[in-house]
Amino acid sequence: LRIILVGFGTVGQSLARIIHKDRERIVDDYGFDPQITTIVDSRGYCQDKNGLDLAAALEAKERLGTVAKYPEKGRRRPTASRIISTSEGEVVVESTPSNFKDGEPGLSNIKQALTTGKHVVTVNKGPLALAMPALLELANHKKLQLRFSGTVGGGTPFLSFASKCLPGEKILGVHGVLNGTTNYILTRMENSSLGFQAALREAQMKGYAETDSSNDVQGFDTAAKIVIIANLIINRRLNLHDVEITGISKVTPQSLRDAKASGAKIKLIGRISESKATVKPEEISATDPICVPDTLNALTFSTEHAGNVTLIGKGAGGEQTGSAILRDLVDIRGRYTI
Ligand code: HSE
Repeated sequence: LRIILVGFGTVGQSLARIIHKDRERIVDDYGFDPQITTIVDSRGYCQDKNGLDLAAALEAKERLGTVAKYPEKGRRRPTASRIISTSEGEVVVESTPSNFKDGEPGLSNIKQALTTGKHVVTVNKGPLALAMPALLELANHKKLQLRFSGTVGGGTPFLSFASKCLPGEKILGVHGVLNGTTNYILTRMENSSLGFQAALREAQMKGYAETDSSNDVQGFDTAAKIVIIANLIINRRLNLHDVEITGISKVTPQSLRDAKASGAKIKLIGRISESKATVKPEEISATDPICVPDTLNALTFSTEHAGNVTLIGKGAGGEQTGSAILRDLVDIRGRYTI
């Protein structure tokens, strides 16, 4: 399986590390050999049709700042979408930073991949938040897979849990904690004397935050995940503009202490009900299963017959999201004899 990896930040590098380490196990367990043949970053690309040396690509990125410095086979530019259309490969993995204003460059990259006959695995939430129905239709029309497990819940399979484990059930609504960075900040602010900015810096250093962390803090990241869940799980054709969004910037240490005194915690909650979709800080009882600490995510599916079902797991981090990409690659390979 030849992979064109577009975007080589925290998540892209984690995927390369996972494939480098687990390649033999994947061949043994799943019967296919995942080979990254092209890597594109913001300054250039490297390419080897026999499979790149991933240790060398990671070293070029870590030491010299770009895969354009990969030994002999690294190049400066052209643009990602040109490389996507001219490179051979079965799957494009899109892991450029999420942009919630116009979805670029991810939106063009995904369209280019699908129109040139490549399956897509994306962890980029921007294009889906703004144009998910159109992208799914394009993939369907081209008879290609567009997979996005890593966009919601990092490594925790919220999307496939709902679609594969709750078939036949009517899901009436969902609500929960879907952003690791803000949950980390709120937890730190409540449990230590750490201020908002210091807690945000910690989340950035640990690789949880978006490249533009205001997307976490202002609630756009949670809203994008709500849009993806609405479209895929509840069959609601929402986009980002349909979600009422309030971030956590007005949550104070005092309000967290007040909530604690009454047996509650303030969490940034994404919610889809019968009538609307919202993202806002809410007081949640400390005994509610969605009241999770640190970077954990927790999502409750309210179902007609089974009642409330809650899934909890790590919702952010390069390695976790890299694992979600691997899951999608295995799934795509299972459906197609490529
Ligand atoms: N910035 C995101 C978060 C990454 O903190 O949850 C995972 O989508």
